[in-house]
Order: sequence, then C-alpha cells, then structure tokens
Amino acid sequence: MNTVIVGAQWGDEGKGKIIDILAREADYIVRYQGGNNAGHTVVIGKEKFILHLIPSGILHAGKVCMIGNGVVIDPQALISEIEGLKSKGIKINSNFLIDNRVHIIFPYHRVLDSLREDRKGRASIGTTRRGIGPCYADKAARIGLRLCDLFDEQSFAKRLKEILGEKNEILKKVYNFKGFGFKEVYDTYCGYSRKIKKYSSDCYRVLNQAAKDGKNVLFEGAQGTLLDIDYGTYPYVTSSSAIAGGASPGTGIGPSRIDKIIGVVKAYTTRVGEGPFPTEFSAKLMTAIQKKGEEFGATTGRSRRCGWFDSVLARYSAIINGLDEIAVTKLDVLDGLKTLNICTGYRYNNKMLMDFPSNTEILNKIEPVYEEHPGWEEDTSRILEYSRLPLNSRKYLKRIAELLETKVSIISVGSERKQTIFV
Ligand code: GDP
Ligand code: IMO
Ligand code: MG
Repeated sequence: MNTVIVGAQWGDEGKGKIIDILAREADYIVRYQGGNNAGHTVVIGKEKFILHLIPSGILHAGKVCMIGNGVVIDPQALISEIEGLKSKGIKINSNFLIDNRVHIIFPYHRVLDSLREDRKGRASIGTTRRGIGPCYADKAARIGLRLCDLFDEQSFAKRLKEILGEKNEILKKVYNFKGFGFKEVYDTYCGYSRKIKKYSSDCYRVLNQAAKDGKNVLFEGAQGTLLDIDYGTYPYVTSSSAIAGGASPGTGIGPSRIDKIIGVVKAYTTRVGEGPFPTEFSAKLMTAIQKKGEEFGATTGRSRRCGWFDSVLARYSAIINGLDEIAVTKLDVLDGLKTLNICTGYRYNNKMLMDFPSNTEILNKIEPVYEEHPGWEEDTSRILEYSRLPLNSRKYLKRIAELLETKVSIISVGSERKQTIFV
C-alpha cells in the first residue's frame, strides 16, 4: 500500500503527528518536496521532536526513512538535525537514505532569499529565509547543483566557480552585497558531501522494489496545498509541488502505484507568512486560539495567523489532491467555544463564487459567507472513541466531511500519540 499524506490547508496541519502515527504500519517513509522550511512536530510523552528534513517516521525503529529527489537540502541543516536526533538516542544509519538527485541549498540561496524579502518590504512573501525559493529557481533554470554533483570534486569545483561568478555579480550589482569566496564555499561543501555521502542512494529503485514486494510506503508531504507552487495562493506560496501529485516526480514512483491519499486538515485554519486569508479571526479570538492551539511556527517561531474553518479552500484542496479521506487535527482547540463558524462560500461583487479564485487580488476582496454551528463545553482531549465525542463536535466533523465530499478517518485531539481517534 502506497499512501500519500498531504497538508490540505496552508501547512502546519499536524502532518508530523499523523505521519508518526501511521508510520507504525509502514515500512518506508519518504519526503517528496520542500526543505528545511518545514517543521513537523512529533510529541512522545514528555519529549518533543521537531523535524525539518528527516521524515517523521524516524522515531520508529525498524523503518527506512528517505529524502526523495524533489526535496532541496541545506547540508548544514541536515547534519545538525541528524546530530540532534542522534544525541536523543535516535538511530540514523542504514535506516536513512537520501536520493542523490536532491538539489543542494548554498549560502547564496539563503542570502538571496533574505535580500529579496527585504527589498520587497511590505510586499514580502514572509518566507522562512532558508533559501528554498532561490534553490528551486536554480533547479528550474538548470544552474543548480545536486548531491551527486558534489561527489566528483573536480567537476564540482568547475561548476561552482561558474555559478559563483554569476551569483556574486548579482549580489554585488543588484543588492550591494559582498558575495562569496570560492575556496570557503568549496571546502565547506566538500566537507558536507563527504559527511552525508554514506546516506546517498537511488531512492526510486528502492521504492519501486518495495512496491513490488508489497511493502507499505508513506509519502510525507511538507507545507500544504495552498502553498503549492501551482495551486496555492500565488505568489504567497512556497516553490515546490506540495500537493499529493508531487509525490510522483518527487520520489520516482509512478502515479499508478499510489493507492491512497490522506489529507491532513486542521479543525480551523492557520497560515504563517503573508498573503490572503479570507476567514482570518479578529484580534480577540486570534489571541485566544493562538494561545490554546500553541500556534507558533515550528521553524521560525513566528506566530501563526488563525481563522475559521474554510470549506471553500479545503474542498478545492480535496479536489486538487484527490483526497480519499481526511485526518482532522486540533479539534480539542475548539473546545469551549459557544459557537463555531464554517465558511461555505465567498461573496465577490455581490455574487457567490463557486470555485476557489486563482487571482490573489480577488481573494483579498471576497467576503466569506459563514454557517454557524453550536459549540461544545466538554474537554475532548481525553476522549479515545468517536462515539464519546460531544454530539456537537461530531456534527461539526460530519459537516466538514459533507462539504469536502470525503470521509474523516482520523481525529486528533492533542499532540500526543494516544490523543488520536480512529473512525
Ligand atoms: P506540521 O507542519 O503539519 O507537521 O504541523 P506542525 O508540527 O508545524 O504544527 C502542528 C502543531 O500542533 C504541533 O505543535 C503539534 O504538536 C500540535 N498538534 C498536532 N495535533 C494536535 C491536536 O490534535 N491537538 C493539539 N492541541 N495540538 C496538536
Ligand atoms: P510545514 O511542512 C507553514 C510558508 C512561509 C511563507 C511561504 C514561502 O511545517 O507545514 P518558503 O520559505 O517556503 O519560501 O516560504 O511558505 N511556509 C510554511 N508555512 N508550514 C510550513 O511547512 C511552511 N513552509 C513554508 O511561511 O509564507
Ligand atoms: Mg509545520
């Protein structure tokens, strides 16, 4: 069984927790896009792990975790993540593979990301400044360097010299930034590549063999559908294919081999960074939900913007991803609210929009239309069975499933493993 786990909103839906839970039944867990802009949290007892590049299955013994070719890797971040996990007793050796086609993030990518954001000022995207966009841009422009390109140090030197020549000119002339010396970057990256070479592999081969052998593979999405480069709220998106379909080009598994797609959906909506957000709360509710839901970025620590559940957006996401089912997370955060709103439509120029608009300007001007639902008083965080959930919370979940034309298979009522209800 090959299953894709995809974020169905703007990221931080709780993918890390759901992947950790489903990893129990998996043999392989594979990241297919993004980089260390991601922050996936897994809580085990008193211990909290935040994974940026390494798949959230790594906390289970006996599984193989992979980074597929669609990911971009900052080797410095990867090495420190590996060391951090090892220091907590997590085994990382032959159970971890990196496809040698992954594109590598260099210091000029990180610096360009920041300089561009600063230059945009109020119009900035609010990126994580990890160099993700510039690295994917170089991949598409065919001036990137992949992990396999670093292994042949002579040809790496030649290509790095050429690339740095152009990058330094841009940095100096456009941004008045001093640029990077060849020797320092070269030596540092040769050091990194020697350190991570032992993990390098052809993941497509391992995965396709696994599929043949009837193994269970989980494909771990990062970010979310509305941050996808094609289907997200462009330009306020990330630079990779975060949708479920990205799992195929991002790992080398044919689309026909994918059996199931599970969307992770937060019981409300959040977003980090800039860009349109139709159902965003006003100040009072924002502060309350941010606090209760601990809505602070796992990567940058920025506070996440919060809002009501937006079914127009989530329904669009269900279609784009071809969701078979959804995992609804953070239901417990809504405990105690007198009433809840679900956005069921967008009004624009006195007309109802039937589809999620592609134009960001329109999205900024629409007025969300809400359906009001009664809340529940009870604490759901200790409930282990669906039938024991408060009636109004079940009605809320049922309405979400109905609007998305899908079924709810998992409900999460807390960050810990045991706070999970299978429907
Ligand atoms: P990801 O990027 O999709 O993996 O999500 P993040 O880890 O960035 O953010 C989700 C946050 O919510 C983390 O702090 C999780 O520990 C936490 N979390 C996950 N599921 C639940 C839940 O059902 N209830 C509560 N209260 N917190 C949750
Ligand atoms: P996980 O996997 C939430 C957002 C940034 C910014 C935009 C572009 O934890 O859900 P980038 O650095 O990618 O160029 O930034 O995308 N963003 C995320 N938001 N969760 C994430 O990952 C994100 N990764 C990037 O805040 O708005
Ligand atoms: Mg996150």
